Amino acid sequence: MKKKLLFLGPPGAGKGTQANLYCKKYGLDHLSTGELLRQEVNSGSILGIQAAEIMNKGELVSDQLVLSIVEGRLSGIKKGWLLDGFPRNITQANSLEKLLERINQPLEAVISIKISDEYLIKRLLARGREDDNKEVITNRLKIYREQTAPLIDLYTNQRILEGIDGNANIDVVFSCIEKALG
Ligand code: AP5
Repeated sequence: MKKKLLFLGPPGAGKGTQANLYCKKYGLDHLSTGELLRQEVNSGSILGIQAAEIMNKGELVSDQLVLSIVEGRLSGIKKGWLLDGFPRNITQANSLEKLLERINQPLEAVISIKISDEYLIKRLLARGREDDNKEVITNRLKIYREQTAPLIDLYTNQRILEGIDGNANIDVVFSCIEKALG
């Protein structure tokens, strides 16, 4: 079974939902940079206050900050991991590659969840997180297209990427992911 995974996709594609289900079922550590950043924000630390300002605009926080968060956590995991929301641009992807080489844990599979803009906007507006309003969703999508979507080509060329239709209901999407990773 593949145990070093990455879930890619635009905001609202269902990365977090599917990663949670997959990690529970298969005993992997779920590493969501968005979730870790929100914990930092909720702690009220200076770093959290600075991150909140960026996140609430739908921009990306600094590569250095997310890399230090991921590096600290990944090194200690023995049973396998699933990255959700990281890497988000080519710089982060290159840093991740170097880090994984160093700890001798190469990435085994990437799941790219695809979803229509119409569905994702509906889902995010219904959820109503602080960064789930029309203006910020539009910016998150723009940044996804400009900075994160190029990673699809990167991992396709490495022959480790599987595309999944994320428009279906949660159980159906989960079955497709299990099949792709099975
Ligand atoms: P992050 O938390 O990663 O946000 P995101 O990528 O915009 O993703 P979402 O959490 O909105 O969507 P998701 O695909 O996980 O979908 P979910 O399962 O939640 O990042 C937030 C911010 O942090 C970024 O904007 C940035 O500022 C910063 N950040 C994070 N990582 C960073 C990095 N590496 N570098 C720099 N900055 C970083 O589902 C969404 C909703 O849809 C839920 O309500 C869910 O219940 C529902 N849903 C899910 N699947 C289905 C389905 N199949 N059918 C119906 N409803 C569904």
